[in-house]
Amino acid sequence: MGMVITGLGRSAKLAQGIAKAGGWKLVNAIESQFPDGEDYIRFKGSLRGADLVVVNTLYPPNDELMACLIAADAARSLGARRLVLVAPYLAYMRQDKRFQPGEAISSRTIAGLISEKFDRLITVDPHLHRYKSLGEIYSIPARVLHADVPVADWIRKRLRNPVLVGPDRESRQWVSKVAKLCDAPFTVMQKKRFTSTHVRSSGLDAKTVRGRDVVVLDDIISSGHTMAGVLQQAAELGAASITGIGVHGLFARGAKLMLTATGARIVTCNAVPGPTARIDLAPTIAEALKKESHDAP
Ligand code: R5P
Repeated sequence: MGMVITGLGRSAKLAQGIAKAGGWKLVNAIESQFPDGEDYIRFKGSLRGADLVVVNTLYPPNDELMACLIAADAARSLGARRLVLVAPYLAYMRQDKRFQPGEAISSRTIAGLISEKFDRLITVDPHLHRYKSLGEIYSIPARVLHADVPVADWIRKRLRNPVLVGPDRESRQWVSKVAKLCDAPFTVMQKKRFTSTHVRSSGLDAKTVRGRDVVVLDDIISSGHTMAGVLQQAAELGAASITGIGVHGLFARGAKLMLTATGARIVTCNAVPGPTARIDLAPTIAEALKKESHDAP
């Protein structure tokens, strides 16, 4: 039957884009909740013999994880041959060690659950910090895609004199690649996190940002404190314009307001949909799936 795409939760539109970009059949899934909050899922088309690609960004994490685990079991019992999870935002990656005695290392728990239900995982710029690769916790083949090309395209088309800024050492991996693609300079700051909402990046100087279109680039915007702090500093140091780009715009409560108050333009990828999600990942994901369908047994 070949490859069939379905979208769950907030990923229905992205699934449509991927199906269109790859010329694949789309099977819709109806989702609702019972009055007690339990999930109901029904596929509206045959899955028999299909290589089913479930597109489901894992945000909000708990709701979306439950939906994709239930959907995977249903798809198997309806005759799907292979199951690929495309989770552009892969939740639960930040708890990658026991920071305090007694803590759960939830990244491992979630990797175990997904590995049990799916044959393959594709994600975009997951938060790989202490883990060097997803293979350390996933027992299925897990492919990491990068948003660097579409992010660089967005910057190139809109900003004349960009300089890229990474808010912490980890960000060097993506900031350096995007800067190279844009043929722009970059700098990486040092960050100290005191609590989940108290954070400070330092090391930005006026020489680097004065008169330039400053782009602060991060993998995740969660509370927004990392991004807002750096944007604020860039504005005070004389940037001509300030833009904050996040691959995954989660925007926890209050984040949007705080970011808007800096006067910056905020843009994210459509890994997580929303009004700022103007960078389309569908072509990047479709390209990876084409390769996937060639490599499939
Ligand atoms: C952490 O190291 C990540 O790369 C991001 O910088 C972080 O998740 C952003 O979080 P927040 O928006 O809460 O400052």
